[in-house]
Amino acid sequence: MIFAQCLALFIPFVSLSVNALGQNGDYAISDTITGEAFYTRFDWETMDDPTHGRVNYVDEKTSRQQNLTYASDDTFILRADHKSVVKSTARGRNSVRIISKKTYTTHVAIFDVRHMPQGCGTWPAIWETQGDDWPTGGEIDIVEGANDQGPNAATLHTTPGCSMPFYQRGTGAPGQLDCNWQVNSNTGCGVRFGGGMSYGPNFNANRGGWFALERTNDHISVWFWPRNATVIPNEIEDVNGDTFTLSTTKWGTPAAYFPNTDCNMKKYFGEHNIIINLTLCGDWAGSTYSQTKCPSSCVDFVNNNPSSFSKAYFDIGSIRIYEPRS
Ligand SMILES: *[C@@H]1O[C@H](CO)[C@@H](O)[C@H](O)[C@H]1NC(C)=O
Ligand SMILES: *[C@@H]1O[C@H](CO)[C@@H](O)[C@H](O)[C@H]1NC(C)=O
Ligand SMILES: *[C@@H]1O[C@H](CO)[C@@H](O)[C@H](O)[C@H]1NC(C)=O
Repeated sequence: MIFAQCLALFIPFVSLSVNALGQNGDYAISDTITGEAFYTRFDWETMDDPTHGRVNYVDEKTSRQQNLTYASDDTFILRADHKSVVKSTARGRNSVRIISKKTYTTHVAIFDVRHMPQGCGTWPAIWETQGDDWPTGGEIDIVEGANDQGPNAATLHTTPGCSMPFYQRGTGAPGQLDCNWQVNSNTGCGVRFGGGMSYGPNFNANRGGWFALERTNDHISVWFWPRNATVIPNEIEDVNGDTFTLSTTKWGTPAAYFPNTDCNMKKYFGEHNIIINLTLCGDWAGSTYSQTKCPSSCVDFVNNNPSSFSKAYFDIGSIRIYEPRS
């Protein structure tokens, strides 16, 4: 009885202070991006791939003409070309890189992904960074891998002075702890998810799933629920499309958890755009290509085997972004 009374007094106080901080709990919807909305919420980027991939990023008009991007009511497809042989003198195979017009600091982003690019030489990514200021403003990779080799990796890349402790890294397996991009050729501090359904052919065979990012000034967390997970939080599934507010407190242990113990989050992470890109070969997929069962060399394979890229596409149901309520 005494205990219950104490609780009753205590709970309102706790929830007030959480609201005031705008952390760990209380977010309101700020954008829902689905189907055609991708065309108004993102810009198409056509620069040379900074990671030296065998790609030619095309503009929006070309991507529509060649059906490299395609939108319907609840689908957005982004793909590499799977029809043409690429001349050795060309910049690379046609593909797409899009960047959100809006930027975000502390927020939650939920990505409903049905299919991700699959095939030898592919290096797809869903990530966030501060416009063209890289590495100032940091980088958060939410979905990333290469050459169909799972599980998914979530990784931070920063300027010098941010690192992760060896404990408490979520349910996945931690790699390098120093997030400094200058260490080990920009490996970053990453976590490989547990379970095999988070990346590549397994992810696709399972009809994908949901990735969610939470960024606060205390921590950065990334969760993953496969499509057939036994427990999926209501706000993640959002079957009725009416999740206007949410709290991440009941989402369970994230696959990747990056605390601020040795990293001043506010200092190392800036105003982030969301970027979705599909590159081929390059710094990661190219350098690890020979360790896989993929044939010939990465660049030759990409140039000469268009039909091998028929599954090199993202099918995204929606992106929902939530920001702190106050
Ligand atoms: C594609 O995404 C990854 C995200 O990890 C990034 O490191 C890389 O620079 C990107 N490539 C291009 C060309 O944007
Ligand atoms: C474009 O791509 C979509 C999605 O893959 C497909 O449904 C549609 O038939 C394609 N359109 C053409 C003209 O090929
Ligand atoms: C989901 O499906 C995959 C592939 O069929 C299977 O390995 C996994 O056990 C399933 N998970 C659950 C929770 O049913």
